Amino acid sequence: MKNHKLVLAKRPDPTVSADIFQLVEDHVPSLAEGQFLVRNQYLSADPAMRGWVMDMPNYIPPVALGDVMRSFAVGEVIDSKHPGYAVGESVYGRFGWQEMAISNGSDVERKVDPDDAPLSANLHVLGMTGATAWFGLTEIGNPQAGETVVVSTAAGAVGSIVGQIAKARGCRTIGITGSDEKAARCLEEFGYDAVINYKTCEDLSTELAAACPDGVDVYFDNVSGPISDAVMSFFNVGARMTVCGVIGISPAHLNGPRVARTLLVKRARMQGFLIFDHMHRLSEAVEGLLPLYKAGKLKFSEEVYNGLEQAPVGLESLLAGTNQGKVLVKL
Ligand SMILES: NC(=O)c1ccc[n+]([C@@H]2O[C@H](COP(=O)([O-])OP(=O)(O)OC[C@H]3O[C@@H](n4cnc5c(N)ncnc54)[C@H](OP(=O)(O)O)[C@@H]3O)[C@@H](O)[C@H]2O)c1
Repeated sequence: MKNHKLVLAKRPDPTVSADIFQLVEDHVPSLAEGQFLVRNQYLSADPAMRGWVMDMPNYIPPVALGDVMRSFAVGEVIDSKHPGYAVGESVYGRFGWQEMAISNGSDVERKVDPDDAPLSANLHVLGMTGATAWFGLTEIGNPQAGETVVVSTAAGAVGSIVGQIAKARGCRTIGITGSDEKAARCLEEFGYDAVINYKTCEDLSTELAAACPDGVDVYFDNVSGPISDAVMSFFNVGARMTVCGVIGISPAHLNGPRVARTLLVKRARMQGFLIFDHMHRLSEAVEGLLPLYKAGKLKFSEEVYNGLEQAPVGLESLLAGTNQGKVLVKL
């Protein structure tokens, strides 16, 4: 049986572009005892991939040149020599940008029930991005009813879920995003009380003052950089900040205001969050998210690309910020 996969052919220099990946064809080897074969149905593209393809210190080693691109995927078991995985079962795991993946179960995050939600939802709302929103908001942000919660990249895969969980907990939710189209979706689909387009507004601080008359209690930060500097100046005493993403800064431009005085004066807490510390608790997040999803309180949008060869194009869109919703590849 043939397999097609996207391997990392070269490192970005420094921009991540589609041409760093190469489409390769090979054959699926026969299964050994304890292995099973997954036919991937949806692949994910995530901002973290920018770090995974660069040869720099990170929380995980970089993808090696010539290796299949690391990725979450959801697929169906089509052959099995593993007692725990039967043909026909659906699984969500780190199966890579390829059509077929051989697994021994160590890269499986969760078995998926196709009756719970569309398969693709397991790559966002009920998968890594949903769990990021769930744990990062509920355990670090700890939002209380009546508090003001600000979210950057508010219309994104993580941000849109954060906003909706906070809303369901009775908070005032303020989204910051980068286009009028995304801003409209924040208000109409994701239920934010107010939204700011940081690219077109004259002055972010003026807009934040108007949107957050009672200050900011929780800040879920997906970007870092000047947006976060502005939000932090509105922190209330006891504010909590989840540092989830740094897509707004490049490793070459890490300078900015010092935050120690804000943290001290406001007795605020700023904590880094990494979903990979929590993936073993994915089912716990799904238990929290699934009732919201089934009650229609978790809206999401997807930007779906068709065919393996389109995965790098989807990643480019994501890293350029032109994506509308979770970037997925349908095989
Ligand atoms: N810590 C963790 O464990 C963890 C897990 C998952 C994701 N994350 C992080 O969370 C953030 C959101 O991830 P996501 O999957 O939900 O992606 P996403 O928000 O759906 O897509 C990325 C968005 O980032 C925004 N953006 C901000 N500054 C940008 C810049 N300089 N260049 C390009 N885009 C920029 C764009 O939205 P706007 O137009 O609104 O600016 C873009 O659409 C990312 O920073 C990601 O690395 C962290």
